Amino acid sequence: MQAHVGRFKGKVAIVTGGASGIGEATCRRLAAEGASVVVADIDADRAASLAAELGGPASAVAFDAVDVASIERLVTGTIERFGRLDVLHNNAALTSPALHAKDSNAIDIDFDTWDLVFAANLRAYLAGCKYALPTMIAQGGGAIVNTASTGAFSGDITRMAYTVSKAAIIGLTRQIATHHGKQGVRCNAVAPGLVLSAGARATVPDVIQVMQRHLLTPAIGEPEDLAALVCFLASDEARYINGQTYIADGGMLAHNPAMADLVDLAARR
Ligand SMILES: NC(=O)c1ccc[n+]([C@@H]2O[C@H](COP(=O)([O-])OP(=O)(O)OC[C@H]3O[C@@H](n4cnc5c(N)ncnc54)[C@H](O)[C@@H]3O)[C@@H](O)[C@H]2O)c1
Repeated sequence: MQAHVGRFKGKVAIVTGGASGIGEATCRRLAAEGASVVVADIDADRAASLAAELGGPASAVAFDAVDVASIERLVTGTIERFGRLDVLHNNAALTSPALHAKDSNAIDIDFDTWDLVFAANLRAYLAGCKYALPTMIAQGGGAIVNTASTGAFSGDITRMAYTVSKAAIIGLTRQIATHHGKQGVRCNAVAPGLVLSAGARATVPDVIQVMQRHLLTPAIGEPEDLAALVCFLASDEARYINGQTYIADGGMLAHNPAMADLVDLAARR
């Protein structure tokens, strides 16, 4: 995908969950467009190897989205090192199949699982904003992009806490935009549908074929498709956009839910 060279020249960006999938693609694109990128991830080795590959001012920081103190160190350390912070992409989420199996439904879920998912998926995004905002405001502005999910807009048969936490991210996004828009901070969200990241391939390999029937695009989305949207929202090109959530799902939520069955029915007639 063509990068707009220079959109992030002189800018400093943190991407959480930056070592893999959507975060990795966003790190690559931000770096290609001139940003000093901090690849922030719990997987220190992958983050370090991506930062080394990106070269130049890119660096890696290990942190745990569940540990608020590590998020404060990530943000303040970045600001100390570069003297500013222009872009925060809150993107990390717990994606392990074992956790998803426990994140079941209202009857079976245990409260530890609920709290863990909310700590990583929601509180961590708030914490990133909390520690980034004073610097963004002091320097005259900044852009925050949060990764939600299409699960925020439609019911799912699994992942009770994950889905509710993703819906809450949309509220967090609007709150930050409303509180700090006049101070130059834009806060928007992306809501991916199925995207073929390593996490998605591992957790839902057999679901991918089922989902493809319902897309309005020939192919399933790749991490780069989301990176393009994240970088647009993080760039000055989106200067008139604030508090919004953009769906990138191949049109999955745009049609009658019975569409694929109706197409099959029409073919049988
Ligand atoms: N891929 C999809 O189909 C899809 C759909 C909807 C939403 N999303 C969202 O997109 C975001 C990225 O997902 P992805 O598919 O690229 O996943 P991924 O598994 O490829 O990447 C997630 C990254 O987050 C890191 N991570 C996990 N736990 C962490 C923790 N506690 N602290 C810090 N980092 C941690 C992982 O090491 C990994 O590098 C997530 O917020 C996810 O919920 C993805």
